[in-house]
Amino acid sequence: MTRAADRGATDTMPGDEMLCESTCHIYVWEAGGPAALSGVTARTIPGDYGVLTLEQLHDKIRPGNDHYVRTRLLCLENTHNRGGGRVYPLPIIQEVCQWAHQNGLVTHLDGARLWNAAIATGIPLKEWAAPFDSVSVCFSKGMGAPVGSALAGSKEFIAKAKRIRKLFGGGMRQGGVIAAAALYALDHHFERLAEDHANAQIIAHAVKGHKALRLDPGYVDTNLVWFEVDPTFMSAKDLAGIMREHGVLLHVAGPTTLRACTHLDVSKAQCEKVADILNRLDR
Ligand SMILES: Cc1ncc(COP(=O)(O)O)c(C=O)c1O
Repeated sequence: MTRAADRGATDTMPGDEMLCESTCHIYVWEAGGPAALSGVTARTIPGDYGVLTLEQLHDKIRPGNDHYVRTRLLCLENTHNRGGGRVYPLPIIQEVCQWAHQNGLVTHLDGARLWNAAIATGIPLKEWAAPFDSVSVCFSKGMGAPVGSALAGSKEFIAKAKRIRKLFGGGMRQGGVIAAAALYALDHHFERLAEDHANAQIIAHAVKGHKALRLDPGYVDTNLVWFEVDPTFMSAKDLAGIMREHGVLLHVAGPTTLRACTHLDVSKAQCEKVADILNRLDR
């Protein structure tokens, strides 16, 4: 990873601004944490299924003037959940982070699903992490641990982060129990993410083949299958209800939007069953 400290900065201050994609997890699903806990405002930019390019970012740093909020941090998410589990193309990440650093920004990667990007592309985790000042990963998604995330960064950054974690109320004396499950996941559940990706394709194929369903995005990179249901057919809620009766749980993300997620506890046979149920739904 790059060293923000070498560029004279490691983190944000209250009154700073972060740049992030409009549908990213840290902005949408963390209860306003950046504003409430760090005093950081978010400038959200709509991406292409979660992906922001240099063209969209290059004019988003505010001028150095006391009237403006200070643009300080760029946060990206890979894979991007709301972007359909999309893998962020590495050359775009490299270009955007280089630009950010040249312009005095700190960069963070929300890599909760970075494992999936590494397995889907064959590009090692350290290459995905290298362009950033800090990276967070999560062990409780595809990796299958019951709980736990980890933060990586420079020694100075982590020392500061440990203190702030305590201050935020996230300190834990019994972390070893959680770490043991995460270590197990690293040894046993990383390579097998390829199975989740293959299983997601089974569901994606069935969605594609149904007249009232539409993949959105129109491809599946990893283990998330985001799709739309034609409201003249039924609502997302009703479809999820029918699937639940068959023992299949889908996430209802909007009136017409659903997400299926394949993971450690979902077998190929179960995904074939999902495809079969979808194929047989009256059109
Ligand atoms: C993209 C993304 N980032 C971060 C998180 C937060 O994970 P945790 O609460 O385990 O740190 C999640 C959890 O849903 C996520 O989906």
